[in-house]
Amino acid sequence: MGICGTCKVTLLEGEVDMEHNGGITEEDEAAGEILSCCSKPRGNVVIEF
Ligand code: FES
Repeated sequence: MGICGTCKVTLLEGEVDMEHNGGITEEDEAAGEILSCCSKPRGNVVIEF
């Protein structure tokens, strides 16, 4: 549900649509982090976890 932040990963390539509920800070998002539980890839993506 995008609350706890447990699933946070780094998006290395590609784009996602992410609808979270406060589980990630704006700073983390700006640094390329995403919450994998509530992110839908727009195409092929590469992540690091
Ligand atoms: S924010 Fe909790 S599992 Fe993704």
